[in-house]
Amino acid sequence: MKNYSVRMIREHMEDIPQFPIPKGFVMRNYRPDEGAIWTRIQRAAEPYFDVDDQLFAREFKRDFGALEDRSFYLTTDAGEEIGTITAWWQPDLDGEDWGQIHWVAIHPDYQGRGLAKPMMSVAMAYLKRFHERSFLGTSSGRIPAIKVYLDFGFYPDLERENSQQAWAEVASVLQHPVLRACGF
Ligand SMILES: CC(C)(COP(=O)(O)OP(=O)(O)OC[C@H]1O[C@@H](n2cnc3c(N)ncnc32)[C@H](O)[C@@H]1OP(=O)(O)O)[C@@H](O)C(=O)NCCC(=O)NCCS
Repeated sequence: MKNYSVRMIREHMEDIPQFPIPKGFVMRNYRPDEGAIWTRIQRAAEPYFDVDDQLFAREFKRDFGALEDRSFYLTTDAGEEIGTITAWWQPDLDGEDWGQIHWVAIHPDYQGRGLAKPMMSVAMAYLKRFHERSFLGTSSGRIPAIKVYLDFGFYPDLERENSQQAWAEVASVLQHPVLRACGF
């Protein structure tokens, strides 16, 4: 399977699924200068490329201060950070303001326990306060991520390059009503 870049979009912010944070875990906001924690989690979770020490700054340098409101860590009760999600935004995406789900990751030791959806509920609730629509970038090989995003009402942006091939690949391993509705 190729790992095509894909974009997913959600044209409104209504009906956001609510998944509570499970017992034993806590969501907290990012605090100043906690980029190294973000890098540790992304590095452990990322299956397709090496996460270098500068990635965090490249991704968020536009507004580090906004991270204290928009970025979240999922921690264990003991305070160990094991997940990260950022409710980012693009103020001018082809002339429109879009909320953006950015860099979702759960440490491999904690994957497969349904922890991504509770993180999404928190980040989407934040985006709903400030944005009328949202989008995200991901890639066709990231099946658990795509399953979560489809369940959260994001759908394939079929205007992107290679989208037919990309989404046909996803649909070959993931059956989902949204994909069927899109013809896959
Ligand atoms: C994306 C990520 C945060 C998801 O967390 P996770 O703990 O792996 O996700 P879950 O195990 O809760 O799985 C999410 C959903 O995908 C489903 N799923 C997982 N693997 C699947 C597969 N191979 N085929 C079909 N469905 C699958 C799960 O059943 C679950 O759906 P459900 O809630 O209806 O049961 C995590 O996989 C991760 O950190 N990946 C690496 C980084 C990454 O790719 N991030 C996304 C960047 S856009």
